[in-house]
Amino acid sequence: MSPTPWSPRSWRDRPLTQSPTWPDLAHLERVEAELAAKPPLVFAGEARRLASQLGAAAEGRAFLLQAGDCAESFHEGSADFIRDKLKVILQMAVALTYASGVPTVKVGRIAGQFAKPRSTPTEERDGVTLDAFRGHIVNSEEFTPEARRPDPDRLLAAYHQSVATLNLLRAFTTGGFAALSRVHAWNQQFVAQSPEGKRYEVLADDIDRALNFMRACGVDLDDDHSLSSVDFYTSHEALILPYEQALTRQDSLTGDWYDCSAHMLWIGDRTRDLDGAHVEFARGIKNPLGLKVGPSTTPDQLARLIETLNPQNVPGRLTLISRMGRDRVLDHLPSLIERVSQEGASVVWACDPMHGNTFKAVGGQKTRSFDDVLTEVAQFFSVHQSLGTWPGGLHVELTGDNVTECLGGGDQLNESDLELNYTSICDPRLNGSQSLDMAFHVSELLQSAVGTRTRSL
Ligand code: PEP
Ligand code: CO
Repeated sequence: MSPTPWSPRSWRDRPLTQSPTWPDLAHLERVEAELAAKPPLVFAGEARRLASQLGAAAEGRAFLLQAGDCAESFHEGSADFIRDKLKVILQMAVALTYASGVPTVKVGRIAGQFAKPRSTPTEERDGVTLDAFRGHIVNSEEFTPEARRPDPDRLLAAYHQSVATLNLLRAFTTGGFAALSRVHAWNQQFVAQSPEGKRYEVLADDIDRALNFMRACGVDLDDDHSLSSVDFYTSHEALILPYEQALTRQDSLTGDWYDCSAHMLWIGDRTRDLDGAHVEFARGIKNPLGLKVGPSTTPDQLARLIETLNPQNVPGRLTLISRMGRDRVLDHLPSLIERVSQEGASVVWACDPMHGNTFKAVGGQKTRSFDDVLTEVAQFFSVHQSLGTWPGGLHVELTGDNVTECLGGGDQLNESDLELNYTSICDPRLNGSQSLDMAFHVSELLQSAVGTRTRSL
């Protein structure tokens, strides 16, 4: 059966789930027109470059690190906040690359990650029912009728905050801050004092020595693009389709359509219905796509989704982000990987060890235990090892701040610590030292995956 024609608005003929009920549709349409007239945030050529780097991850020659907030906040867009998040991601990438010798493709959940799917459309407290909080692109988290009312002007605010964030990221990643000669400077004070921070210092010293050696041999480090800047890409869940459609543009070079709100877009576990609006929208844009794969995904469903989203089987086009929960990986992941391999489909297999491991602490806060998160990653690696496939990436929620949202880790945070500095407006994030701790653990797993791959060549 040949697919129906696609256009940036063809999703409107499909069932749309996880959408707010906008109280004033004329207002929404005015905002969509305004956004459609704005400059793109990213360029098609950049998305193509990411796709080719992800192609290497699909073929076992690179590793994807996708990381950032669960939900970005309109109140947390300061330069320091963005810088500190970038620092942690750069540190993690250095730890991964140094141990494995494999390039790390860096993608932030940043500069557009403002929308949240919800398990229920409304929330009830003390007999009062209001719309659920759906992320700052839709409404606000306070439990009042005004705050929870979906407001289309927030689409414009999300666009402007994304512009500002991306502008700073571009400056940081190309203007010297991300140069490899500055590895020490990415170790923030509170991280540096932790055991992971100390371990990082040792690694940074090694890199310094290597760079000094290269300098002494006459290599001009400032002149070398790969040492003085990094490729850093943006991504978010393509959930609020009026926003995504308004930023979808036809590339003048190729005639292809790109969603220019971010380099990479993903489809969430709750919106991956084959016939639904989100899959319809995503199939027509040429950006690299992510697809969250939760425990309810069947091998048949997955095969059909892959056929729809990557009919040409282009390596790097599709990243499958497994998010099973620590006790479900061994039951669910192997049959999915086996099916993908049988189909001959080229995908990046990434692990999101966060979303299947969330629970409520006694005090009512949503939390995750570092050990559960780590266990899921370890299971993910071991399943790939036994099937001879490449564990191609890690997808995590983190922040550079010294938050107390996830339990355990080097600081041994416990439930009573959660109230010390819990600032996430949605899911709990790893803090700076927990993130680095995770990167060191994953780098060991990756090192052994590289060993297995090399032996099998
Ligand atoms: C998320 O990544 O924030 C998210 C909601 O994930 P999932 O769709 O996997 O539940
Ligand atoms: Co989340």
